[in-house]
Amino acid sequence: MKNAPKRLLVTAALPYANGKIHLGHLSGAYLPADIYVRFQRSMKRDVVFICGSDEHGVPITITAEQQKITPQEVVDRYHGLNKAAFARFGMSFDNYSRTSLPVHHATAKEFFLRLHAAGLLKEKKEQQLYDEQAGMFLPDRYVEGTCPVCQNPEARGDQCEKCGTFLSPTELINPKSKITGAVPTVRETVHWYFPLGLFQPELEEYIRSADARDGWKENVLQYCRGWFKTGLEDRAVTRDLQWGVQVPLPGFERKVLYVWFDAVLGYISATKEWAASIGSAERWRDYWHDPSTKYVAFIGKDNVVFHCIVFPAMIMAWNRTSPDRYILPENVPANEFLNFEGQKFSKSRGWGIDVDDFLDEFPADTLRYTLTMNLPESRDADFTWKDFQARTNNELADNLGNLVNRTMTFAHRNFGGSVPSVATLQRRRTSGDGSTDEGVGREIARAAREAAECFERYKFRDGTLALINLSRFANKYFNDQEPWKTAMSDPERCALTVNICLQTLRSLAILLEPVLPFTSAAIWKMLNLPGSPAASGWESAAETALADGHPLGQSAILFTKVEDEAIDRHLKQLPALTVAQPPTHPIKPMIDIEQFKSVDLRVAKVLAAERVAKSTKLLKLKVSIGTEERQVIAGIGQHYQPEALVGKKVVLVSNLAPAKLMGEESQGMLLAASDDAGKLTILTVFEDITEGSIVK
Ligand code: 2FM
Ligand code: ZN
Repeated sequence: MKNAPKRLLVTAALPYANGKIHLGHLSGAYLPADIYVRFQRSMKRDVVFICGSDEHGVPITITAEQQKITPQEVVDRYHGLNKAAFARFGMSFDNYSRTSLPVHHATAKEFFLRLHAAGLLKEKKEQQLYDEQAGMFLPDRYVEGTCPVCQNPEARGDQCEKCGTFLSPTELINPKSKITGAVPTVRETVHWYFPLGLFQPELEEYIRSADARDGWKENVLQYCRGWFKTGLEDRAVTRDLQWGVQVPLPGFERKVLYVWFDAVLGYISATKEWAASIGSAERWRDYWHDPSTKYVAFIGKDNVVFHCIVFPAMIMAWNRTSPDRYILPENVPANEFLNFEGQKFSKSRGWGIDVDDFLDEFPADTLRYTLTMNLPESRDADFTWKDFQARTNNELADNLGNLVNRTMTFAHRNFGGSVPSVATLQRRRTSGDGSTDEGVGREIARAAREAAECFERYKFRDGTLALINLSRFANKYFNDQEPWKTAMSDPERCALTVNICLQTLRSLAILLEPVLPFTSAAIWKMLNLPGSPAASGWESAAETALADGHPLGQSAILFTKVEDEAIDRHLKQLPALTVAQPPTHPIKPMIDIEQFKSVDLRVAKVLAAERVAKSTKLLKLKVSIGTEERQVIAGIGQHYQPEALVGKKVVLVSNLAPAKLMGEESQGMLLAASDDAGKLTILTVFEDITEGSIVK
């Protein structure tokens, strides 16, 4: 393992206080961040964990208009609800702040003014969409229209959710006001711009070196490369709105800072608020100004550009102006998206489940576990009710719960509720018949090492799997040792078995605490141990710490099984969806096997991908089929971002006669499936295989 950092600053994206958080939010940024922080605390590292509500921007004012309440009422309501839901879920933030606080407004204004005074911000006149009926400009999500890239008719003025392209309202085709539905007019306005392009070389070097030190995720690097390739442009950092942080310049009283300019600074102001709350007002500086602090920013993939490019550039700009330099994120582990029963979470379609509703019915750790085992760490993942049931019943109840229950019950029944004495353990070890018993100790140490390495590298699913496998191993040990038999035939061996299982429960309580904090506390209580698993510390997990004769607490059932009835009920509650009909095209005339064999299909690895100039539909790919590289022009530009394809293994028709598309030669064709509703997906390989492999 690398040298431990002196201290850690960990932030998780500030969710908009305009709705209740759902499971997708948890698996994007919050659960991974919480596991990481709890693990670091258990490693006795100095860490501060920051989050809070993002209370500005158009998402809030639109919700206020829809619900016919004020923006302040919106943020008060959802800040309270989300803070409470996070607490129920076991999020261990040091501070859950909010961007409407005076300390935040002051921090954001100070940043803006410093950049302005240094001459880094440019004032520009521009044409903006305006709603004549409502009498206001229409920034960002106040406009909807057709995406110029993928033709999605419901693209928002700031971004098309379908193809992910960032847009400005004036780029939309057939724009409409979200407020009145009117077709907007265009009016001149003035805004302040941040010169993002000026920082591109520094940003590229920053990401390159941070990646070299801390291993950034490939998906994050690819997004960044895509942005760098297109070239960074000036970005407006002010908006014609009333709700937000007022622009602190005379003549600009009716404008506010762009929500993303202020939101990312929310991490700093929330740390200030935390420092003041612990009576050490200047302590926030250790976390933000000391270069020996490691800063890790957890986010979902839709926030990559703001955390890897915009925020670092803002910090770089500040650092040019003053000696109190801020540190940059050492890593930005962004997860992909979690779907719900195969579809995107959607508030408007009622697709998904709020955290609160979930926790009204099931314990937080069962949710934490299922989400952890399905984290979208490198690709989109899916939450399904059946998987939740299977994981809770088979992996938590039948594995971990069973180990705890059988060990505790056995100790109570056969050893008077205390840790059986193993005074003879030493003799057995030297006499050579203790290898299985020692094997458990070795397995604990090995699992602890493996999980620690995974957690350090932001691989929370693999780390948790190592620990749940440890529980499986201990169950097998219990079975193999048959203490119910040795209780009569060899009481010393029986005592040793139960002692070792109890020691393992303590180890598991410590090691699983980052993932299952409630379960871990319950095991700790059953073992009647002082303090807490985290205070005892990760490094102590492999110790034989339960003394002979230590009195145990009451045994309790850790997990109740999820019944079929509950799962069926939830599945029935899902809104009926318009299910895409299978395509109705008639099957083509029969061919024989020789005709089929004449098509040469190969596995090809996508080496590079970019858009064909002036085409929304065509992508230009460079692919390798092992023996050679090919250029392929594919009509998939409305379905895929080029960056998302690089590194994927696809299937290429390699003996198709070359053709020219928009002046570019295509030397083959990719296989893809499409339905009548216009959905298209590229065929990839189920498991990794060398490029050039024959498909038959
Ligand atoms: O996507 C969102 O929900 C944003 N509110 C995230 C902001 S993260 C940070 F900048 F505060
Ligand atoms: Zn689009």
